Amino acid sequence: MTADPQAATKTGYDAETVASLTADATAIMARYPDPRSGLLPMLHLVQSVDGYVSRDGILFCAEMLGITAAEVSAVATFYTQYKRHPNGTYTVGVCTNTLCAVMGGDAIFDELSDHLGVGHDETTDDGAITLERIECNAACDYAPVVMVNWEFFDNQTPETATALADKLRLGDDVVPTRGAASVCSFKQMSRVLAGFPDGRADEGTGAGEPTLVGLKVARERGWTAPEAPAAGGAAEGAAAGQTSPPVGTPGSSAERKPATSSDTETGKDKKPGEDAK
Ligand code: FES
Repeated sequence: MTADPQAATKTGYDAETVASLTADATAIMARYPDPRSGLLPMLHLVQSVDGYVSRDGILFCAEMLGITAAEVSAVATFYTQYKRHPNGTYTVGVCTNTLCAVMGGDAIFDELSDHLGVGHDETTDDGAITLERIECNAACDYAPVVMVNWEFFDNQTPETATALADKLRLGDDVVPTRGAASVCSFKQMSRVLAGFPDGRADEGTGAGEPTLVGLKVARERGWTAPEAPAAGGAAEGAAAGQTSPPVGTPGSSAERKPATSSDTETGKDKKPGEDAK
C-alpha cells in the first residue's frame, strides 16, 4: 500500500465504511505489481457503496493510492461506466450500435425515453432507472438488445422494453434472456466489477442457438480455421505449405505495388486533392 489508510478518514465516510472500503481496496491493490493499477476496479468499488463515483470516493481512491484527486478524476471522467451523479438502481442500456440500431434499437430508445421521461444518462424521478444508449455488447445475433445492469434482454421491441422498464420500476422480478437468472442492483453489479464475484458468472446459457449456428454449419461441412502463419518468415511459411508469405515478410500483401501518386511522390511535390481526381 502506498498510503496510510487512516488518511481515508478525511473523506466523509463513517468509520465502518472506511474500514470496509479499506479492506476491499487493499485486496484490489494486492492484485497488481503496481498498486495504482487497481484504480479502475477501485472506482467500481466506491460505486458499489455510493452508487456513483462521489467526491468521497475520489478522495478515498487518491488517499489509498497516493495519487492526487485530479488524477483519479481524470480516469473516472474518461470511462462512461463511471457515473458522475447517483445512478438508478438499474441501468437500462439500449444498444444503438449499428446492427441493433437498424434492427430497432433506436426506436426502442426513443420509446423508452418518452415512456420514462428521461434522456441518455438520466435517471427517473423514483431513482429506479438510468437510461443509456450503449455500444455493441457482442450480442448482435440477438439484436436489438437491451441490457439491464449488463444482463441480456435479447430480441427486444419497444413494447417489450417498456414492459420491462415498468416491471423494474415496480420492483417486480425480471428474468434475463440468457445468463444469470435474475438482475442484481447497480451497486451489487459494481461490486462484481470491482472483482468480488457473486458466484453467478456461469449461471444460465451464454451462447444460445443463434450464436452457435455458424459453428454448427462449419462442423457439418468439415470447415476448419486456416493454420496460423508459421513463425520465421516466408521460407518457413512456404515449407509449411502456405501459398502466400506471412504478413510483414518480403512478398507479402504488405508490400503492394505503387498504385497512387501518394506512393511515389513526396508531400511537397503533390498538389492538394490530386489523388481525389
Ligand atoms: S450492435 Fe447491438 S449487440 Fe452488437
